[in-house]
Amino acid sequence: MKTRVILLAAGKGVRMRSRLTKLLHPLGGRPMILHSLTAAEGVTEGVPLLVVGHGAEGIRLAVGARAEFVEQADQLGTGHAVLQARSACEGKADFVLVSNADLPLLTSETLKKLAAAQKGNTGPFSMVTFKRREARGFGRVKRGASGEVLAIIEEAEASPEELAIDELNVGTYCFRADWLWPALEKLKPSPKKREYYLTDLLDLAAKAGQQVVTVALEDPDEAIGVNTREHLAEAEAALRKRVNRHWMSDGVTLIDPQTTYIESGATIGQDTVLWPNTMLLGDTHIGEDCIIGPNTTIKDSRVGDACKIQAAVVEMAVIDNHVDIGPFAHLRPGARLGEGVHMGNFGEVKSSTLGPGVKMGHFSYIGDATIGANVNIGAGTITANFDGKNKNLTVIEEGVFIGSDTMLVAPLRIGKGARTGAGAVVTKDVPPNTVVVGVPARAIRKVEGSD
Ligand code: UD1
Ligand code: CA
Repeated sequence: MKTRVILLAAGKGVRMRSRLTKLLHPLGGRPMILHSLTAAEGVTEGVPLLVVGHGAEGIRLAVGARAEFVEQADQLGTGHAVLQARSACEGKADFVLVSNADLPLLTSETLKKLAAAQKGNTGPFSMVTFKRREARGFGRVKRGASGEVLAIIEEAEASPEELAIDELNVGTYCFRADWLWPALEKLKPSPKKREYYLTDLLDLAAKAGQQVVTVALEDPDEAIGVNTREHLAEAEAALRKRVNRHWMSDGVTLIDPQTTYIESGATIGQDTVLWPNTMLLGDTHIGEDCIIGPNTTIKDSRVGDACKIQAAVVEMAVIDNHVDIGPFAHLRPGARLGEGVHMGNFGEVKSSTLGPGVKMGHFSYIGDATIGANVNIGAGTITANFDGKNKNLTVIEEGVFIGSDTMLVAPLRIGKGARTGAGAVVTKDVPPNTVVVGVPARAIRKVEGSD
């Protein structure tokens, strides 16, 4: 028995008041459409069918090969939208699961439950409902005296009594395919909005005495449909709660989940502690036993075990185990910090590798540099890596001691074990084990104890 999923994504989303198509607005760091798509992938035969219209190009771009697309040129309603998928779908599946694409919190589990309910139903379809006092424009589920479902009343068409109904239509249905396609042809435009409502199929089935089964949502948050920016913020908060709960149950401490933002691509090791105002964005992976935050943003980066990162912005960086960063540090793309590195306050590292055990305590800029193990970088050290035209490289070999306020004018190589005096402006390569001082720096002697 095959079930194919159709997602309805052709609407404009007028109520968002945005130049961006509603389903491309990011939620948890990903375009909203990808959330419903991921849920659909868990149940569908083949890839989901996506009915697109408004902003179709952007949606195709975001989704790529993860869906098959069907165009709905004029948005004449949800019933009309499903009909557009007829030739792509008819005869290829026994059941058709239709869901509004603007329900990003709906889970695969709910869709599976719905499909299972319909497999056990002798009637033509099953649908998901939930209860909530505030209806937010959702269709009301009208039941008869013995609890049987009779109709879905759209808000625009509802009487005051119908508006008071608290059972709502989620916008997700599973149909017997052989019933669905001919039934859709029978839909008539609604009296007020002149749209072909998919929801009118319920009326059709009920009038023919056929059984429609309802599946109740356990978690009403799943039904947060996004029509406005206010709904988007609600969905974001609910998603954040869900993601945070997941990481806490996995052994991560969140001191204040309310202010902790973990995007869906991020992962976190056991016994790591996240302090308030921490954001883990994009493709970020944090090891075990770390202390991250407060006030830290880490994006597209890898952090090893037992690291401490406080009040820092870290972007496209790779950090080894036992590294200690901040407060007030900035790691830019291409920063690589080896095991046990200490990077203190007001430091910036870009496109540079700091070898194991490097200490860079205060106020330094390191760009386009390779720094060997156990180098000490004095306060205020700067790699002058840009000469106005080119980015030049600095190499500092292991065990070097860079005095406070040294300017390293690249391209430059500082040999193993060398030292620079405080305030030196180094413009030429320094041989190993040599002490250089002054402006411009000159060699004054060999490092004591070196041969
Ligand atoms: C719809 C339901 C309502 C349900 C609610 C909850 C109908 C008539 N009403 O109302 O009962 O409670 O969802 O989710 O179905 N779309 C198209 N083509 C169209 C019109 C819409 O593809 O011609 C798509 C939209 O992009 C959207 C989805 O269908 O993803 C739902 O459309 P929307 O206008 O948001 O319907 P609601 O008013 O929310
Ligand atoms: Ca909607």
